[in-house]
Amino acid sequence: MRAQVVIIGGGPSGLLLSQLLHKKGIDTVVLERKTRDYVLSRIRAGILETGFVELMREAGVSERMDAECFIHDGTLISYDNEMFGINFVEHTGTPVVVYGQTEVTRDLYDAREKMDGKLVFNVEDVEIHDAQTDSPYVTYSVAGEESRIDCDFVAGCDGFHGVSRQAIPLDIRREYEKVYPFGWLGILSETPPVNDELIYASSDRGFALCSMRNANLSRYYIQCSLSDSPDDWSDQMFWDELKRRIPESQADKLITGPSIEKSIAPLRSFVTEPMRWGRLFLCGDAAHIVPPTGAKGLNTAASDIYYLYHGLVQFFEDNDTAGIDSYSHKALARIWKAERFSWWMTNLLHRYPEQTEFDLKMQRADLEFLRENKTAQSVLAQNYVGLPY
Ligand code: APR
Ligand code: PHB
Repeated sequence: MRAQVVIIGGGPSGLLLSQLLHKKGIDTVVLERKTRDYVLSRIRAGILETGFVELMREAGVSERMDAECFIHDGTLISYDNEMFGINFVEHTGTPVVVYGQTEVTRDLYDAREKMDGKLVFNVEDVEIHDAQTDSPYVTYSVAGEESRIDCDFVAGCDGFHGVSRQAIPLDIRREYEKVYPFGWLGILSETPPVNDELIYASSDRGFALCSMRNANLSRYYIQCSLSDSPDDWSDQMFWDELKRRIPESQADKLITGPSIEKSIAPLRSFVTEPMRWGRLFLCGDAAHIVPPTGAKGLNTAASDIYYLYHGLVQFFEDNDTAGIDSYSHKALARIWKAERFSWWMTNLLHRYPEQTEFDLKMQRADLEFLRENKTAQSVLAQNYVGLPY
């Protein structure tokens, strides 16, 4: 088999790239380790920057998102019983879109299958060969049957635990990592959101986040110990703790209900450089991870896809390598700024085990300055809605 681009990974990065390239007549094959249903069973965040929304529109996959999403002009931040808003539109002219990333992935799968996109599921033993030559190829097996795809380029969209990053030799690859000493315990409940906007809550008991998927599907998180497991937390324990971490005005109106999903996610900042090695390009979680505090996971994948998509089109249409040659540099320049914002917002809102009284005073001063100062709010708003591509 032959394809112009082999895409390893059928998550949002791989699917969006495949759909965008297809619209330009560039043929791709997506190799996915799991099944479509397994991929769609993953619960992910729900904030989309305008840049991502515009890519979905360009890919022709925005109809349901446009019909069902919420448009949020801002967010709420609370500390103990205090709460204030930051208006993104006032500072940047731009809102954010609230639409579950699971739904994004579903819409992308539907679009790829409607266009008879080449998606191979349950692949095993994926290996990238001759990435340093002009004739790379990828081998893999399905149910024990081995296959080979010759191609012009390989897009490694296979997430943090994929094989693509590992294909870049250790003496070439530089990795940067920070692991946070806590996790997020998240639940989904078929209850109306406690507020029309998200609430990022800092409290002496730890961080909490009140989010949503639709008018009757809410997503809540509380900071928890890495030694916790979801089974340690009954629904009642979760609700009681969430109420302790948000302002009374919100806790009093919180509508609780049975969780339909409960999980714990660790928090990590991670970047690998470079994001290109010969004809192999890394995109999304294959190259970088952010703590979810700044809602940047999918949105940093989006700018990678934007740069790679345009670079590949430029190559295939004009035989011009400028776009793919600048891919890693341009992608990393935006990624590091998103890493910084996610790290900063995590430090602003979470409690750390070793924090001193002075540290807590610094956190409180940061929050009060953010509450009082429009310039500080503008800086948060510009980063949250998404820096330019
Ligand atoms: N071969 C084929 N597929 C693989 C392999 C492999 N060796 N290893 C992993 N995969 C698949 C995974 O099963 C997964 O479906 O690659 C996909 C990677 O998808 P994600 O982990 O969701 O990463 P990405 O597509 O970059 O999404 C970026 O989007 O949903 C948000 O917040 C989420 O940060 C994430 C972001
Ligand atoms: C979510 O809705 O899951 C969500 C929203 C904002 C975040 C993280 C997660 O910062």
